[in-house]
Amino acid sequence: MSLTSWLKKSFPVDDEALAEMSSEPIPNHLKKWWWALGGTPAYMFVVQLVTGFMLIFYYVPDPNQAYESVQHISESVSFGWLIRGVHRWSANIMIASLILHMMRVFFTKSYRAPRELNWMFGVILFVIMLVFGFTGYSLVYEQMSYWAMQVGTEIAGATPLIGPWLADFLKGGDMIGQNTLTRFYAFHVMILPVVSMMLIAVHVYLIRTLGVTDLRFKGEEKKDKKTFPFWPDHATTEFVMVSIIMLMLVILALVFPPHLGAPADPNNTPLHIKPEWYFYPVFRWLKITNLTWGVIGPMVFLVLLFFWPFVDRFFEKLFPKKDVAFWIGVIGALTITIFLVWETLAAH
Ligand code: HEM
Repeated sequence: MSLTSWLKKSFPVDDEALAEMSSEPIPNHLKKWWWALGGTPAYMFVVQLVTGFMLIFYYVPDPNQAYESVQHISESVSFGWLIRGVHRWSANIMIASLILHMMRVFFTKSYRAPRELNWMFGVILFVIMLVFGFTGYSLVYEQMSYWAMQVGTEIAGATPLIGPWLADFLKGGDMIGQNTLTRFYAFHVMILPVVSMMLIAVHVYLIRTLGVTDLRFKGEEKKDKKTFPFWPDHATTEFVMVSIIMLMLVILALVFPPHLGAPADPNNTPLHIKPEWYFYPVFRWLKITNLTWGVIGPMVFLVLLFFWPFVDRFFEKLFPKKDVAFWIGVIGALTITIFLVWETLAAH
């Protein structure tokens, strides 16, 4: 018996069902990469998992050894600098591409019925990816990570109603220390990956069952609507994009390797604390308000974002002729961009 026939017998696969599943028709506009941006965070997620698993072999989640273990990965382990660099850069590209994916879904109103729930799963995924970034940055245990943990847990402590409990849960005591690092590590390498894998599976399942929104472009008639098959057409485009992004990641890791600041020192508060760029808008907001409003503002924003498909429906009923959703989106995106640029340019 040949290996192929033995495999077919031991692992029966329904070829017809597989062919039907992979030849799903896709609206023509997804031929352009910027309309199919969801594939990029999906790929980045896989890169994060693979490089993250490699880093686990050398990283030590202990406040006295964490920093040295990251230094060891960056300076002594074969290709450690590359794996750490790709992990760091793909995290950044993942968040950037997620923001673009969300904006494309928002401005094309693809969150409307029956995709409201999938939008809500998407918002949860976005928050999870931010927490991934925050916990990952903390694991390095350099000065900036330590003080970002300090500020982050303080912000969590100011959450209405559950604040004190939340801060205590995250810190695992009165101070940032071993318990905090263990908890952040558990979230970063176990809880968040499992939860996000399940959510991505549900997200993709809903995309497959509900289909992608059939967008209508200017001058296009309904009868003009064309589709193309997922396999091999869309899969090939995605493969080309993935190869380009992979090359870009390696170049970025080579030219701009993640640097390592001074080791964490709980007795020495740095003059200027800066989080990762995707927290800049919230950080700037916190600086121009106070701790209470600093927490309430982003919370209101997230709740609004989460329920957006229903808020949009409400505005649509109230002002049927005016595209209120579009203008709220423009004002929201501009405000966030201004805060981001402001915090980037500000010395402190
Ligand atoms: C790890 C995170 C995510 C992954 C891997 C992902 C993946 C995808 C993919 C592959 C698609 C198919 C069409 C496209 O590429 O645009 C899609 C569509 C969609 N995504 Fe995501 N997505 C993620 C996060 C989000 C977020 C944060 C939101 C919004 C808050 C969102 C909302 C949606 C919606 C509503 C659709 C349907 C769009 C349509 O019908 O045209 N997704 N997503």
